[in-house]
Amino acid sequence: MKYKVTRNEKYDFIGQSYSTSYPNLHKYPATMIPQIGIELFKELDIKSGKLLDPYCGSGSSFTVGLDRGITEMYGFDINPLAVLISRTKFTEVDIEKVKIIRQRLRNRVYEFVKIEDNLKNIEIPKIYNIDFWFSKVVQQNLSVLKYFIDKIQVDIRRLFLVPLSETIRECSYTRNHEFKLYRMRPEELLKFNPDVFGVYFDKLNKVIDIYEKYYLPRIKGAKIEISYSKFPQKENEFDVVLTSPPYGDSFTTVAYGQFSMFSNQWLGIKYARQIDNLLMGGKPVKAIYPNSIITDYIYEISKQSMRRALEVSSFYFDLDKSIKDVANSVKKNGMVIYIVGNRRVKDVQLPTDQFIAEKFEDNGFKHIFTYERLLGNKAMPSQNSPSNKAGQRKGTMTKEYIVVCEK
Ligand SMILES: C[S@@+](CC[C@H](N)C(=O)[O-])C[C@H]1O[C@@H](n2cnc3c(N)ncnc32)[C@H](O)[C@@H]1O
Repeated sequence: MKYKVTRNEKYDFIGQSYSTSYPNLHKYPATMIPQIGIELFKELDIKSGKLLDPYCGSGSSFTVGLDRGITEMYGFDINPLAVLISRTKFTEVDIEKVKIIRQRLRNRVYEFVKIEDNLKNIEIPKIYNIDFWFSKVVQQNLSVLKYFIDKIQVDIRRLFLVPLSETIRECSYTRNHEFKLYRMRPEELLKFNPDVFGVYFDKLNKVIDIYEKYYLPRIKGAKIEISYSKFPQKENEFDVVLTSPPYGDSFTTVAYGQFSMFSNQWLGIKYARQIDNLLMGGKPVKAIYPNSIITDYIYEISKQSMRRALEVSSFYFDLDKSIKDVANSVKKNGMVIYIVGNRRVKDVQLPTDQFIAEKFEDNGFKHIFTYERLLGNKAMPSQNSPSNKAGQRKGTMTKEYIVVCEK
């Protein structure tokens, strides 16, 4: 290994989960537990400046920043659900007004559904394959909730959309413990008759409680901007970058788009079904990624499958471009912290941590350290069948790497 990797048990956080210190408002795949960032910021003595997370997901980097006293932060993500969750956590709203609106919403919804004709006339959003994934009653009840939530002012509305998003998933015919979309078995479908309003108002209470207790008291006076886009080009703007980028394309690693598809569609996002193509590694390329630490590994894959080697290359071309942009945007002496897993494709383990260190060094940074930690807390597939042969299962991603570089 060209860039030294040190096993560091302090960062394992065995037995701890996301909610140990800061509960999340909504499930999200491959979240980073904030404890890691908090510990790193202590170790590196980071407590001021402008923070960037170019792949912010549900926003754990901002939780870290706030915990350590940072008051100016910027995040980007092209999954609308991720942006919704992050903006909800980190936007200050009048909590007393929220509680009044909650009560009013409850009354209005239950009044509305008492009249049968109201339900018949409610407009159901146009969602691909809707009858395959939602019963008629669930479609109607979700539409009623959406109809009334859409009338709430936008900054407060987010707090009502987050629990709606989880309700949509939970009341659909998807098997809930999976991130990808799998329909329940026929015998399960027959028994499945969720109480949409009960689920929703229960979740709404939880979301408002968590927001009030964990996020609201810390965001007063902080400036946190979260954009619904790829990271744009900027120069010498940020002091610290904390991020956990995707570790491969969405189709064969973590399907962020698929996980979020129902929510994004119900939220009215037109390209909800294309999100996985837009994420890193989603576009086809014609050449193997050249002249890098990673190149030999991709050639190894190409001996077994050229198609897979090109898919993997697509991801590294995207990551390379993104690192260039991020590197440019960091001020001199600024720090970048990337937390990433090294995935296995066709039995070849790809050293993405080495690639990240290499690319930052190519762009004017110095590699400071890489820590290896055990990955016990992330919800992601821990096993796969690398060669797609039945019976061949290899552990993958049981470790994670914290790569730190300085400009
Ligand atoms: C590992 S997750 C980040 C999780 C986050 N740290 C958290 O705790 O929730 C990676 C994120 O990168 C986003 N993503 C993938 N490709 C992207 C791109 N080209 N630009 C911006 N975001 C992207 C995905 O939507 C996903 O939310």
